[in-house]
Amino acid sequence: MDLYEYQARDLFDAHGVPVLRGIVVTTPEEARDAATRLGGGLTVIKAQVKTGGRGKAGGVKLAHSPEEAAEKAAQILGMDIKGHIVHKVLVAEGADIAEEYYFSILLDRAERRYLAMASVEGGVEIEQLAVERPDALAKVPVDPQVGVDEAKADEIIAAAGFREELRGQVRTAMLRLWDVYRDEDATLVEVNPLVLTEDGRIIALDGKVTLDDNAAFRHPAHEALVDQAATDPLEAKAKALGLNYVKLDGEVGIIGNGAGLVMSTLDVVALAGEPLGVKPANFLDIGGGASAEVMANGLDVILGDSQVKSVLVNVFGGITACDEVANGIVKALEILGDAATKPLVVRLDGNNVEEGRAILAAAGHPLVTMVGTMDGAAAKAAELAK
Ligand SMILES: Nc1ncnc2c1ncn2[C@@H]1O[C@H](COP(=O)(O)OP(=O)(O)OP(=O)(O)O)[C@@H](O)[C@H]1O
Ligand SMILES: [Mg+2]
Repeated sequence: MDLYEYQARDLFDAHGVPVLRGIVVTTPEEARDAATRLGGGLTVIKAQVKTGGRGKAGGVKLAHSPEEAAEKAAQILGMDIKGHIVHKVLVAEGADIAEEYYFSILLDRAERRYLAMASVEGGVEIEQLAVERPDALAKVPVDPQVGVDEAKADEIIAAAGFREELRGQVRTAMLRLWDVYRDEDATLVEVNPLVLTEDGRIIALDGKVTLDDNAAFRHPAHEALVDQAATDPLEAKAKALGLNYVKLDGEVGIIGNGAGLVMSTLDVVALAGEPLGVKPANFLDIGGGASAEVMANGLDVILGDSQVKSVLVNVFGGITACDEVANGIVKALEILGDAATKPLVVRLDGNNVEEGRAILAAAGHPLVTMVGTMDGAAAKAAELAK
């Protein structure tokens, strides 16, 4: 899960990273009040969208008075930044910036470790710097077993070339940012810019944090960071039911067992549907087991998508045999009753396939069509969706 800047700011604050005060608001009037509460002096009005390059897009503006804060908020609210509409702005205290630096810690999957990056030339041109003068961006591997301790922080500081007199404060900031990364189970913590103020303080002025969803179970507090308004209601429902579901833009609902099989099913449906102008409506992997309840939950979520016109159930029986899956489908249709309204194409193969097919044939549900092959089933589901 990517966080908004204001959420990252709050996490930084909670872990002792030096940040400025800020208040998140949704209207120009609230921005005026926020600027007043922050002292009535210089503030910065910042678009809260989950994408980079806000400053360059005009989404970060200085305001010298509460009145101007309201004006700037009015300009920024509703703005479209790379396809993200601005619904909230952060009214942040203004800093007198002497210098801008860059610091990040991220998960380096290929190397199976973390990577810290730092530069004394931070700011909105960091991407360009990374391309044009890669040497100006220090990259230091971090052993996950050790993390960023004082020695590692000093190594990063030396590699980036921070001046001697800044090292103490920068080291502290890095250690606290490492605490955020480790304690919150993040896969990215990025500060751009980390600034030196005219009065000699090191402050994190911007923050990007990505939390590892796989670790969500041990962070109940992270639930509150989920942007409910931006979450697809079907995805939210599926998540609550413990299903691996991703909503897509199409008409053929897909249920399969195993992520690889489901991905392949999306491909064959996309291919079969192309001439007919229909596409897969979702990804749904019901995994091993595929009990009647899981099947019913999966069907329930998919049938809740008003765009869906047909459903393809593609199961390869392995440890879970086809007869169990067939029973699951029959029971699921019983559980759903009148809620099951769209044609179901079922392709079963693998362990106990004959028994499975016999069960579906015996049930003779009017909505169910059995097709023997994956390509044939995809073609049938696409045709029914048309
Ligand atoms: N509180 C502040 N006080 C003074 N100047 C600020 C403040 N916040 C941001 N700025 C200035 O605005 C610039 C852009 O701000 P910020 O880094 O938050 O957005 P951005 O980098 O353009 O957006 P993104 O990080 O999404 O790419 C900073 O580099 C800094 O110069
Ligand atoms: Mg930035």
